[in-house]
Amino acid sequence: MKLILAPMEGLVDFYLRQILTSIGGYDWCVSEFIRVTDRLLPSRVFYRSVPELNSGGRTASGTPVYIQLMGSHPSVVADNGARAVELGAPGVDLNFGCPSPTVNRGGAGAILLNEPERIYQIVSALRQTVSREIPVTVKMRLGYDDTANTIDIVKSIEAAGANMLTVHARTRADRYKAAARWEWLAEIREAIDIPVVANGDIADLRSFQKCELISGCSHFMIGRAAVRHPYLASQIRQHRAGEAVTSIQWIGLRALLLQFSELMVHVDNQRGAASRLKQWVRLLTKGADEVGDVKERAKELFERVKKERDLEPMTQMIRDS
Ligand SMILES: Cc1cc2nc3c(=O)[nH]c(=O)nc-3n(C[C@H](O)[C@H](O)[C@H](O)COP(=O)(O)O)c2cc1C
Repeated sequence: MKLILAPMEGLVDFYLRQILTSIGGYDWCVSEFIRVTDRLLPSRVFYRSVPELNSGGRTASGTPVYIQLMGSHPSVVADNGARAVELGAPGVDLNFGCPSPTVNRGGAGAILLNEPERIYQIVSALRQTVSREIPVTVKMRLGYDDTANTIDIVKSIEAAGANMLTVHARTRADRYKAAARWEWLAEIREAIDIPVVANGDIADLRSFQKCELISGCSHFMIGRAAVRHPYLASQIRQHRAGEAVTSIQWIGLRALLLQFSELMVHVDNQRGAASRLKQWVRLLTKGADEVGDVKERAKELFERVKKERDLEPMTQMIRDS
């Protein structure tokens, strides 16, 4: 079983990857997308999004960070993928799921799900450009408006030589609202032989088990719940190993928030850092039901920090929580 930390632009960055992977459970992470349009990007763009390139493409705890690219020109995507690998990326992931209207108007992200042939060209150009031992993975939604093309798309991705396919089990039209359609993952697994990674709505141990049952998948990517419920990946590992699942205590979450704040001290934009910390506290208030008491503590803390704009007083409130 592989457990992967999902790419989340504006939410999971270098700092949060350090913390979430230090808890353990993840086999690798995928970086937030790097938008590729019509040229080879300078190295600094890669280092800015993925500072882990300074340490062998791994987080401090040694978890590999694949770089995600989002573009629509096969040769440009391939050249940028080759550059990412030259700089030390241990894998390259391609984004065919982004629902942003701006991105889609520019011909990238989920809009490409309307063009299985183009997807084939992009994946195949990248696969042929980077060396064999570097995994080329793909992340997609079920379709743009509907699921009419789903099977064609996944077959194109396999034929193009992708090593693994993550499916966020929603269409672009579903955005984030409709429930993930895990039953589609089973259909996709039937249609192709490369490993399929299930993604969408794995919120806690219970939903993980349900997703596993319905999808039949052996690999899982965790998105929002990785932030709302930072111990989920390690709980899944414990559950899988037949061990007692450790229950979450506020003291553990508080320690994570304090670690995050400590890392954020080095960020130039301190106001931005404070709002990131606040964002995490807010997300902890939406954690899984099984962390009931913890959720209350997060709510109390959020009430205190919500008007605060500076990192230091906010950190003190966390210490006092
Ligand atoms: C704030 C946010 C940013 C995201 N950014 C990306 C991204 O950069 N690349 C990508 O492939 N998916 C992105 N996604 C989608 C997630 O990786 C994931 O597919 C989706 O949230 C469903 O999984 P979940 O229900 O476990 O959160 C983003 C999702 C959110 C909520």
